[in-house]
Amino acid sequence: MTTPARSGVFDTVTDRRVEEFTESVSFDRRLYAHDIRGSIAHAEMLATVGILTAAEAGLISQSLREIGDRITAGKFVFENSLEDIHMHIEQALIDQIGDVGRKLHTGRSRNDQVSTATRLWIRDALARLDQGIADLQLAFVGRCDHDAGVILPAYTHLQRAQPVLASHYWLAYCEKFQRDRDRLTDCQRRVNTCSLGSAAVAGTSIPIDREDVARRLEFNSLSRNSLDVSSDRDFVLETAFVLTMVAEHLSNWAEEWILWSTVEFDYLALPHQFCTGSSIMPQKINPDVLELIRGKTGRVVGNLQSLLVLVKGLPLAYNRDLQEDKPALFDSFDTVESCLQLAVPIVAGAELKRGSIETGLERGYLDATTLMEYLIQHGVPMRSAHHAVGQLVNKARQRNVPLGQLGLSDFQECHADLDESVFEVLGVERAIQSFSSYGSTAPAQVERQIADWKRRLASDMEAAIAVENR
Ligand code: ARG
Repeated sequence: MTTPARSGVFDTVTDRRVEEFTESVSFDRRLYAHDIRGSIAHAEMLATVGILTAAEAGLISQSLREIGDRITAGKFVFENSLEDIHMHIEQALIDQIGDVGRKLHTGRSRNDQVSTATRLWIRDALARLDQGIADLQLAFVGRCDHDAGVILPAYTHLQRAQPVLASHYWLAYCEKFQRDRDRLTDCQRRVNTCSLGSAAVAGTSIPIDREDVARRLEFNSLSRNSLDVSSDRDFVLETAFVLTMVAEHLSNWAEEWILWSTVEFDYLALPHQFCTGSSIMPQKINPDVLELIRGKTGRVVGNLQSLLVLVKGLPLAYNRDLQEDKPALFDSFDTVESCLQLAVPIVAGAELKRGSIETGLERGYLDATTLMEYLIQHGVPMRSAHHAVGQLVNKARQRNVPLGQLGLSDFQECHADLDESVFEVLGVERAIQSFSSYGSTAPAQVERQIADWKRRLASDMEAAIAVENR
């Protein structure tokens, strides 16, 4: 490729070290397809307003598509002297079609060009991410049928608290990931704004039609202030935050399942094709993938941190610092995407160890709170009921039995009015049946929510397929 002569003001070539230090093509080449899409829309608009002839715009678009194909095929040579992907593509165009190619950059600058290509790239990447999270939600909902009727301890402070249905656990993660998807949709609204046509910083005197470009690129709004756009990376930071929350949720889940797969918990068998062995200890089945999902969250948090620090000291408007946004952005996407790709089959393929879970279920007094609520419903003030059940738990602990194995006299000692019906709320099975509030682990509540999730995810899927088939 021809290296263009430097612009008129310079009397000497750029120092090679500067070229190496300032290049971004080594990472921003990932934007090539989106840059080309933006340039084609720009060229077509220039023809609409009469700056280019239709034939010129056609030639430019056709050549840009060929350049895109060459890049896709790996037949394109990149060199640092051309700084970034945008200059590479423009120079290739000029090499191919000469003076007509020299007209493409009319009425735009790399500042709005970079912003637009990045927005287009993020828009696609967020749609992919949404699908990846939906797949994970589907895997969790799929577990609900698989694990129907299984009861697990819920923990607070990692101490046994109350019994819950296994499905209640799975739907808890569906909720967390749904909030991530909602955040993603909200973030997408601001990403999906057309910044092209803001030019360098103040707009342009060329009679461009920004709305035409926005329509061609399927943006849903038009940026209003060129000075703002030139400096704006909010959409990149927001995206990085959305990705960080997904990573955090994945990390929480991974940590939980690492614990559950230990001999100490013995709740869960991880699918062997997603575990690794030890080079010295023959018995080991290690949850390395889960550990790395937890570990890689660190770099996603780090990327967000880098971006926040990157922009904090910048005056209006474009500053070259902004070029540094892309390594962090791409890395967060790649990392979260690869974590999701592994999380889905692990969630779907793990097996709860029903026997071991059940054997231990009466340990830890998971029914104590239900007993307290039973007392409250029989007229005992809450604080008194709390105290009384605490004493009953102490008694049971001393005898090393569950609450259900205390005698009626023990309960009556605690509260004179109690009768045999107290045993109806004792034991985790019966405790589960006694829940009733909205959002609780009450079986009827959970059933309704499973049905809701199935309906919601199926309609999301239909919508995604409709978009794909457009
Ligand atoms: N490579 C730069 C980036 O990605 C291009 C922007 C160039 N603008 C400029 N005024 N130097 O941000």
